[in-house]
Amino acid sequence: MTELNRRKFLTYVGTGVTALTVASTGLGTFAPRAEAKGVEAASHLFGFQKKVSGLNFNPITPTDKDDLVLAKGYKYDVVAAYGDVINKNGDTFGFNNDFTLYFPIDGDNRGLLWVNHEYSSELFVHGARNANGKYTPAQIEKMLYTQGGSIIEVYRDKDGVWRMDTNSKYARRITGLTPFQLTGPAKGSNTVGSATNVQGTFANCSGGMTLWGTVLSAEENFEDTAKDAGLNDTHYGWIVEIDPFDPNFKPRKHTALGRFNHENAAVGLTNDNRVVVYMGDDKKDACVYKFISKNKYVASRGKANADLLEEGTLYVADMGKGTWVPLTIDNVRKAAKDKKEILDKYKTQADVVVYCHEAALLVGGTPTDRPEDVEISPFDKTVFIAHTNNDKHGNFHGHITRFLESNDDLGALTFDFEIFAAGGKQSGFSAPDNLTFDSLGNLWTVTDISSSKLNSGIYKHFANNGMFVIPTIGENTGEAFQFASAPREAELTGPSFTPNETTLFISIQHPGEETDDLKKPTSMWPHRKGDSIPRPGVVAITGFKY
Ligand code: FEO
Ligand code: CA
Ligand code: CA
Repeated sequence: MTELNRRKFLTYVGTGVTALTVASTGLGTFAPRAEAKGVEAASHLFGFQKKVSGLNFNPITPTDKDDLVLAKGYKYDVVAAYGDVINKNGDTFGFNNDFTLYFPIDGDNRGLLWVNHEYSSELFVHGARNANGKYTPAQIEKMLYTQGGSIIEVYRDKDGVWRMDTNSKYARRITGLTPFQLTGPAKGSNTVGSATNVQGTFANCSGGMTLWGTVLSAEENFEDTAKDAGLNDTHYGWIVEIDPFDPNFKPRKHTALGRFNHENAAVGLTNDNRVVVYMGDDKKDACVYKFISKNKYVASRGKANADLLEEGTLYVADMGKGTWVPLTIDNVRKAAKDKKEILDKYKTQADVVVYCHEAALLVGGTPTDRPEDVEISPFDKTVFIAHTNNDKHGNFHGHITRFLESNDDLGALTFDFEIFAAGGKQSGFSAPDNLTFDSLGNLWTVTDISSSKLNSGIYKHFANNGMFVIPTIGENTGEAFQFASAPREAELTGPSFTPNETTLFISIQHPGEETDDLKKPTSMWPHRKGDSIPRPGVVAITGFKY
């Protein structure tokens, strides 16, 4: 064991990770295939099956090429891009796709793909404001239609190429115009103008999958669209739930999970079977949250389990004390002491969930460096949080934080944490954003260096945004290996595997974002014949070997 590995090993004494490491490797040398051995131990402990090796590739070097560049032996198919017709009604695929989630119909060969659409574009979608600084109703409608989500049906044809099936009976759009119902403490409250039903979802960034087979989508930077469209902004900034297969499952916004610039929703179970949802708030100096349901998950209840997200406790992480602090009206009012302005603002739990960030800071939530995606390790139930960056703190390259919940229980109210990996030249990545695990315990991480800073100054070294594989167990723990490089000015977002990990879906968001002259786009990805603008799109990456 090298000194570095010994130190990493000792870090985990007293946690589930130690048990895994000991079981898989003993105290001897870490073999080159330690990852695979670790998985066998993990399968034993948590019932997880090794499927495919994500480490069977030679890492690429950073590049500024205007293409999705992949490690040798892998290829991609463009499944859907902005403006493509998705069904027989003529509905079209939205703009700036983000989170993806595959729902199998026929294993790894056919399924529904949920895709978030995060924001629109004056240049490429709906045009500029008029002289009064306003958009026309037609522009607003387009702005709302191109956000939200798409449900598309995708399949692998006889040649192994992934395509969209536009004859699908399921394919439909959820947009800024779709009716939603509110659930939880803010429903019908004065704080949301007594609303029980609201219009639409937009600013849909990342998300998560529930244990009962629905999708959670996170409303992130909703403020501008709400203002431009003249909508009540307390109706946005929530976690929304949709059933891709069932249009009769009314789209809903779960207010018990708080309202902020939601990045994601990572779902797990506490040791006593209550549902837990970990969430990031993508702002500088914002907090990490988890929600724990009041009632227990009962698998046989199927989609009726959605009611678990209506009642429970929202917690914020106090990283200085290693505690999860309940965001209750009592705690908030106690923390306000005799400050009248705060006592006037926070009178009910609805006020707490609607104005969540301020309440979180009041009760001792730790302001952090843009907490974006969160993933729960399927191996040891440690919780990984991408802290993208925060120039206010001189944290220009970000880091990935790992929470170790007490007793490996996601329901614990105390935790310890470590900085699992830090962005910078030494690691090869900057600005970690979305995360996903494969069955070898590798954390797949995409980066989000802002378009205006790519390929210049302190970000020159990294070239375009990319995708990295970071093992979380074994010899290479914490080391980043680059798997993909994004087209120019694009960000890779929302990676998700098919169940057997033969295909990885990922969004290419905002290629050519810095374009200011439509005649001279800075990217032309996906380089399709007849296109005159770059188009955000979703690709299917194949080439994974068993
Ligand atoms: Fe939409 Fe925080 O990325
Ligand atoms: Ca993101
Ligand atoms: Ca981002």
